[in-house]
Amino acid sequence: MPTSLLTEETENGVVVIRLSSDNPLNPLTDELVDALVSALERADADPGVRAVVLTGSAKAFAAGADVKAMVPLGYCDAFQQDYIGRNWDAVRKVRKPIVAAVRGYALGGGCELAMMCDIVLAAESAVFGQPEVALGIVPGAGGTQRLPRAVGKSLAMLMCLTGKSITAAEAQRAGLVAEVVPDDEVVRAAQQTAGAIARHSLPVVMAIKEAVNRSFESSLNEGLLFERRLFHAGFALHDQKEGIAAFTERRSPSFTDR
Ligand code: HXC
Repeated sequence: MPTSLLTEETENGVVVIRLSSDNPLNPLTDELVDALVSALERADADPGVRAVVLTGSAKAFAAGADVKAMVPLGYCDAFQQDYIGRNWDAVRKVRKPIVAAVRGYALGGGCELAMMCDIVLAAESAVFGQPEVALGIVPGAGGTQRLPRAVGKSLAMLMCLTGKSITAAEAQRAGLVAEVVPDDEVVRAAQQTAGAIARHSLPVVMAIKEAVNRSFESSLNEGLLFERRLFHAGFALHDQKEGIAAFTERRSPSFTDR
């Protein structure tokens, strides 16, 4: 049995959740994903947490779903247990922003987990890929859906159909990754990015996350209407008055999340 599956450390409103299973490749076992979902739900409910950093080991963010657990599964087991859907779907219900700090392998479910995060920062060592095809399986946690949205159809097809992985620099050029930083700085960089988010009004940050995610779910017209309604709703916030007053008075705003 693993001694610990992940660690959580909170500093200045930012919790760093570090996947740290016994295997530094962090295979995403059911137990690890359950622990991750619990940690994310705790962070979402904790008023002392304003943003999340998700990271793995120096060797791997995560090398995919636990392939060994798939060996005994038949169709009925997978369907009836809602294998993967049962726990993984909870990650995208988190309302506070999640910044991924990826070192080493982000393969299969690991790449899919990174894509469920809101911002991906990559270490120079990061490798992204969807190698499932080589195992005779289809990606199961969004690889065929989120990857084309992130990198476009052609590169997504190349990665999913051949299993070819891409480097951090390629991932940044393709739009999967926001920034590439040296390995020993990536977690700190993610904490700084999350810290910059955490200084803003939390309800505004949460509304922006919801609106950007809505852009993947709706037509442009529907998305624009959703954004306009949120924009109008913002006039009911104290923090909106405070932010605008601070600008006009040439001072820093003091947000209260109201
Ligand atoms: C279970 C895994 C694993 C995984 C590695 N291991 N990846 N176990 N699930 N995804 C285990 C190996 O079996 C081995 O166990 C130990 O970790 C070390 O692995 P090595 O291969 O010896 O390490 P290395 O040579 O450094 O190679 C690293 C690697 C390689 C390139 C990342 O391990 C690899 O290709 N892993 C599989 C990557 C993959 O196919 N991912 C997609 C999985 S499917 P033992 O006991 O032999 O020491 C997927 C579907 C998603 O993610 C569906 C929805 C979530």
